[in-house]
Amino acid sequence: MSIKTAPLSYGLGVEVLDVDLASPMSDAVFGEIRQAFLAHDGLLLLRNQAITREQHIAFSRRFGDLDTHDAVPLDRHPQYHELLMVANEPVVEGLSNGRYIGQQWHSDLAPSLRPAMGSLLRAVQVPSAGGDTMFTNMYAAYDGLSEGMKKLVADLHGVHVRGRKNVSAEWEANNRRINPPVAQPVVRVHPETGRKALYIGEAVQTFEAMTQEESRPIIDFLIRHATRPQFGYRHRWRNNDIVMWDNRCTMHLALGDYDQSQRRHLERTTVLGTPSGHICELAA
Ligand code: OGA
Ligand code: MN
Repeated sequence: MSIKTAPLSYGLGVEVLDVDLASPMSDAVFGEIRQAFLAHDGLLLLRNQAITREQHIAFSRRFGDLDTHDAVPLDRHPQYHELLMVANEPVVEGLSNGRYIGQQWHSDLAPSLRPAMGSLLRAVQVPSAGGDTMFTNMYAAYDGLSEGMKKLVADLHGVHVRGRKNVSAEWEANNRRINPPVAQPVVRVHPETGRKALYIGEAVQTFEAMTQEESRPIIDFLIRHATRPQFGYRHRWRNNDIVMWDNRCTMHLALGDYDQSQRRHLERTTVLGTPSGHICELAA
């Protein structure tokens, strides 16, 4: 093992201390980073990475195919479709305001047929206080359920509906046209670790083949359970941080806890995962 690491929290996560993404990296070192990411339940921090957009994309691509963010065309960089702009002012004219991205517990691309494996979010400019992101460990959430609850949720599918607060009419019209509701299994087996993880989020409106009235209390319980503080980590951003998370075994939330007159600008690449889920109707 040649990389130096330190745990981020008891719940999950690891910081890799001695890498520089602006320099070439051997496959051996990359392999160690990947292993550390998997071993610490899918959360990785790299600080002080003053890299270009091209370097961000190139490093991300070593993990797998990247999404071009066709589901949110008004949020991606017009020249670099692999980069999603997460910023409270449009980074490029014509883009939507990303101020409200991620302000509910979720896993990236869950409302799609090829949900994300990983996301690599890089802080370009962060406010002087706050603008934090919370993460939670969905292996721990699954493992912490009773045997009875594990049986109850084993075959359920949650219907994920993509949405966002305070978006333009154009964003909403696009969204409705290109992002139908998608049913995803509530329990997924992680394809690399073989462990079971809970797969749910606040975009889940109902379970398939159940009414909303029946589903709601179980959804609410699962989210409350999964987001217990002891399963989590709260990231305080510094400029040039890169946080990578595994969407197959974590959820995250943008707190929006900052002075909106200050700039918050981050950029994300999204590594595609294995196909999952099916398009479905949203029952009443
Ligand atoms: C994301 C996201 C959280 C944040 O980029 O996928 O949810 O704190 N961002 O900006
Ligand atoms: Mn997100």
